Amino acid sequence: MRFVVVDDHDALSRSAADELAAVVAAKLSSSVLVATGNTPMGMYAELAERRRRGRFDASQLRAWQLDEYLGLAPGDRRSLYGWMRRSFVEPLGIPDGNVARLPGDSADPEAACAAFERAILAAGGIDVAILGLGPNGHLGFNEPPATTDSPTRIVDLTPESVASNGPYWGGADQVPRRALTVGMRVILNARLTLLVVSGAHKRDILARAVAGPISPDVPASLLRTVPNVVVVADRAAWGDLPMGSAPVDGR
Ligand code: GLP
Repeated sequence: MRFVVVDDHDALSRSAADELAAVVAAKLSSSVLVATGNTPMGMYAELAERRRRGRFDASQLRAWQLDEYLGLAPGDRRSLYGWMRRSFVEPLGIPDGNVARLPGDSADPEAACAAFERAILAAGGIDVAILGLGPNGHLGFNEPPATTDSPTRIVDLTPESVASNGPYWGGADQVPRRALTVGMRVILNARLTLLVVSGAHKRDILARAVAGPISPDVPASLLRTVPNVVVVADRAAWGDLPMGSAPVDGR
């Protein structure tokens, strides 16, 4: 696990964009697992600006949706697919044929989850997973307790996640109680994972994730069991965690 700690959210956005751009420069057809949430929005805007200036080529990227609420059509204003399209797919000009939607409105969502995971594997796995950090340590919607081998599946959201997602949609009562998420076993097999963390409200959970026990109770701590994870945090989120002292069990 490598740590990049920068002054503020703008610097985080640039650093995270640099990390992704380096991978994409080496492999234009990289498969990217795309988080929504507020934290990576600046990173996506930075990449879009680089593309506009001819410095970033996303024309061959493959975008895979990380998580979605159960039961929502893609046109629902709360659809995370819609958010991914508006913030990542469209600004980067990714061709529609390269975008994989996690179908929350499938008639058989369990089977759709399994098919989604098979498609990721058939495409060669994930090159870069872009992840935010839930206030309860979740990754995507892998809620605690999480296991390293969890498949892509349907989950019940914890009350904490419902509450933390409420502000996106105008209140907790607007948030569906169930969701689909790419599972930990896909996330942990990504060739590079970027965990982006911003703001003082993430300080305690970030400390637990990178310096507390590796535990199912903090899904993000499981990232320390694999190599090639980069945590990009701003100082407000990092606080006074010592840079060198995090127990890195995963190389
Ligand atoms: C949400 C999403 C995650 C996201 C996380 C952090 O619940 N399911 O995919 O990464 O919370 O969101 P934010 O970046 O807005 O703090």
